[in-house]
Amino acid sequence: MKKLTIREMVLPGKRVLTRVDYNVPTDDKGNITDDARIRATLPTLEHILKNNGKLILMSHLGRPKGKDDKLKLDKAAAALQKVLGRTVTKLDDCIGLHIEKAVSKMKEGEIILLENLRFYAQEEANDDDFSKKLAFLGDLYVNDAFACSHRAHASIVGVTKYLKSGAGFLLAKEIEYLSKLTESPETPYVAILGGAKVSDKIGVIENLIDKVNTIIIGGGMAYTFLKAQGKNIGSSKLEKDKIELAGKILESARNHKVEIVLPVDHLVADHAETKARIRVEKSEIPNGWMGVDIGPETVKLFGEKLKGAKTVVWNGPLGIFEIDKFAEGTHSVAASLISSGATTVVGGGDTAAAMAKFGLTDKFAHVSTGGGASLEFLEGKELPGIAALTNI
Ligand code: 3PG
Repeated sequence: MKKLTIREMVLPGKRVLTRVDYNVPTDDKGNITDDARIRATLPTLEHILKNNGKLILMSHLGRPKGKDDKLKLDKAAAALQKVLGRTVTKLDDCIGLHIEKAVSKMKEGEIILLENLRFYAQEEANDDDFSKKLAFLGDLYVNDAFACSHRAHASIVGVTKYLKSGAGFLLAKEIEYLSKLTESPETPYVAILGGAKVSDKIGVIENLIDKVNTIIIGGGMAYTFLKAQGKNIGSSKLEKDKIELAGKILESARNHKVEIVLPVDHLVADHAETKARIRVEKSEIPNGWMGVDIGPETVKLFGEKLKGAKTVVWNGPLGIFEIDKFAEGTHSVAASLISSGATTVVGGGDTAAAMAKFGLTDKFAHVSTGGGASLEFLEGKELPGIAALTNI
């Protein structure tokens, strides 16, 4: 079903109620440490402003239980004002008479950011009355919050009952790139899966197994697969209750003629900290040591498997990249991917954070702004926030 997008919407003079995801990472003082999600919404915001719309932005931040001063959106408003180069008026609530009054006084080209939606439990409950109050603030609704579109919340789903609703440019771009991975990928098609847990990636493997040619597995989840092959993994991360499942996945891959590539050597440490002793181990990991990154032979092997790939999806880092000396594997595979020429889509919060750390974000065809949302999309699930948009 084709969905309405901002391109087809008539915006002049309209109050455009726009859901963004400014759930940005912050330090312990609440300062924003990465404004990528804010910058990613600029094309939509600039389009609305250029077309003389009145821009009413709404977002959540964190998972507050009721009002929480630490999770107000003032810093997001300041960060947006800086990158947009225009005044952003931050209001102290998201519903209520004084909010309605402020919105009614808006002129074309003005921007308001409402307060954190999750200060109201009704937001996550997709409460109809709350949705109606939000919808009352706009003539049109735009969803540019892909990263929240797996949540059936009031500002994502509830409001669409009351307003003509379209996808913003960011949401449309996410759908375009992620659909290619699940519907019409150019082959050879390689999936690189990493991150801590097998359990987080089962749905993705099940959905992609009849589409990909190769699955490369690294990161914490690789050790459960190696254990399933009977290898010694020392004190590496292991999901004991998933060993059998890992074995079944290996078997299913064989049946689908999909090659699964696992690490052949490892960077091991005596503990997972900056000051740890480290060394490279071939194949098996001795007791008392844990795998913290893929080893140099594995980097080479993964690089070989990526040569000639036309499409690559990457979800999950290949080592504990947050610690510099365990980041080499993830960084090197990113470099191999960039030189492979494959259309690469990077999904998942941690992988996107790793690419941002290495300064490589803009080297890929697409780095998804969604963590849970991109996983659910790759699992083949219909995201409620997309399903709720107006059909055309
Ligand atoms: C995210 O960061 O993935 C989105 O903002 C959704 O946040 P949530 O997992 O708290 O719903």
